[in-house]
Amino acid sequence: MKKIYIAPSILSCPFYRLESTIKDLENGGADYIHLDVMDGSFVDNITFGSKMASDIKNITNLKLDVHLMTENTERHIDAFAQVGVDIISVHIENNYHVHKLLQKIKQYGIKAGIVLNPHSPVVHIKDILDMLDYVLIMSVNPGAGGQSFIENSLKKIADARDIIDRSGRDILLAVDGGVNSSNVMGIKESGANYIIAGTAILDNDNISEAIKNIRGC
Ligand code: DX5
Ligand code: ZN
Repeated sequence: MKKIYIAPSILSCPFYRLESTIKDLENGGADYIHLDVMDGSFVDNITFGSKMASDIKNITNLKLDVHLMTENTERHIDAFAQVGVDIISVHIENNYHVHKLLQKIKQYGIKAGIVLNPHSPVVHIKDILDMLDYVLIMSVNPGAGGQSFIENSLKKIADARDIIDRSGRDILLAVDGGVNSSNVMGIKESGANYIIAGTAILDNDNISEAIKNIRGC
């Protein structure tokens, strides 16, 4: 049985509560912290940049996973890489030179990932498989937490799992958006081994319990 990684998104966490929430995530057994970087251009919302990643890095040993929902993505990679984050993922829809971006991330020794919006075909990962450490299937449209899971994502996860397994490469298969304790079983059965959850974990009085429910044990 493959290890399941749990990466809570701190998107819905009030800034004034970040430090205590991150301690709760550590104590609750999270594997990564998922950082949703939104630039007000690729998506409407604006969240935070590399300064936040750096501040978080200073208060936790948890690994950091950066989801770049940005235009001009190439401009942002260096700053996050220099913070020492563990994964940087870029969208396929708005970047002309995805292969080059992945090369740039990997030059830092960081895991490089691709993100597919709900309309983007999974087959797009095929010709960049040798560059990938992480594939993220968006199960909502990016831009906000607390949306409902798009059911067609299960088929996309299964297709991505098939492509990844055939490649023989060790690539994390992540899902992001609308994940909760009721639908997570089907998500794992479809082949995801990296579960990102925002509101289902953060909007909960008992974060350890919420992480357990998502992990399923
Ligand atoms: C959406 C973000 C997600 C989101 C997850 O653009 O990429 O990470 O915050 O939040 P929930 O789990 O509430 O959908
Ligand atoms: Zn995300």
